Amino acid sequence: MNSSDPILITGGTGMVGSRLVAQLQSQGFDRLLVPSRQEMDLCDSRSVDAWFEQHRPKYAFFLAAQVGGIMANIEDPTGFLANNLRIVVNQLSACHQFGVEKSLLLGSSCIYPRECPQPMREESLLTGPLEPTNEGYAIAKIAGLRLAQAYRKQYGMKCVLPMPCNIYGTGDHFELERSHVLSALVKRFCDAKEAKAGEVVLWGTGAARREFIHVDDVVAGILHLFKVAEGEEIINLGTGEDVSIAELAALIAAETGYEGEIVWDTSRPDGMLRKCTDVSRLAASGFKARISLREGVRRTVSEYRTLVGQDSNPRAA
Ligand SMILES: NC(=O)c1ccc[n+]([C@@H]2O[C@H](COP(=O)([O-])OP(=O)(O)OC[C@H]3O[C@@H](n4cnc5c(N)ncnc54)[C@H](OP(=O)(O)O)[C@@H]3O)[C@@H](O)[C@H]2O)c1
Repeated sequence: MNSSDPILITGGTGMVGSRLVAQLQSQGFDRLLVPSRQEMDLCDSRSVDAWFEQHRPKYAFFLAAQVGGIMANIEDPTGFLANNLRIVVNQLSACHQFGVEKSLLLGSSCIYPRECPQPMREESLLTGPLEPTNEGYAIAKIAGLRLAQAYRKQYGMKCVLPMPCNIYGTGDHFELERSHVLSALVKRFCDAKEAKAGEVVLWGTGAARREFIHVDDVVAGILHLFKVAEGEEIINLGTGEDVSIAELAALIAAETGYEGEIVWDTSRPDGMLRKCTDVSRLAASGFKARISLREGVRRTVSEYRTLVGQDSNPRAA
């Protein structure tokens, strides 16, 4: 990739997209194409084709998706399946039609079966039923990666396929209806500290184990994989290390200075007991995530407090 090549980034207003744009800008890439949803609605094939015809990107990073936590997925199962299917089909079809040289389509580790052996290896794809709460989102992600592989087989198209675990960090959403677990906990504990609350009640037993990667490591991994991979196989993009939700809550509470009690509402479900990716394939490609969970949580707490300090910032609401 040369600094003067036209490079498309979809989802450029999102958490991952905005950090990728910032990183590429800092490396001197000066023809970044970052259309807003108004300029290119990815759910609308005519809008996508018209945009590609006019702008002719040489490379493309496909990061856009309808993304959300469990509640959002449960409330809009149609949107998570249909919109995400439209988005991947329209992007890849335009890529093929308008001769994009190489692209990258960001997947998710939720493509793996609910009962997947842990840590989850790439070979476990399509070996069992999915977690029902975000099945639509996962099916759209699987359809996207299989479509990219089909284009590769039939037309030689190059589309790199990283599968990240839970992503958090700069630009994350803290609004309760949109946030994922780590940003939701940061908000809960920062707000509790501010309100001098005596207890914070959290869902489940705290025993479930999850893996988290900071968005800046995701961006570094994306750029690394874009260089070294051609897109035949999917590749996990994680840290390979998991933590229990109770450990995570204690870490965040300590970083925020919250000293009250943490109460577990065990009538609420834990979800899958463990979700952690196997990162051997990633390591063999020459990449390792660098930002420790403690350092990432510290940055996120500070960023949330800055957002709260800015009156009426919707991401902190
Ligand atoms: N966050 C995670 O924990 C996580 C984990 C694994 C994988 N991923 C994947 O990583 C990618 C980025 O996620 P993120 O957390 O950065 O998401 P995000 O912050 O919610 O951003 C999503 C982006 O997609 C755009 N978008 C959605 N629908 C669109 C449409 N119809 N037309 C044009 N743009 C549209 C949004 O634009 P607007 O600003 O207009 O809404 C936004 O820029 C996604 O593919 C996601 O599936 C995320």
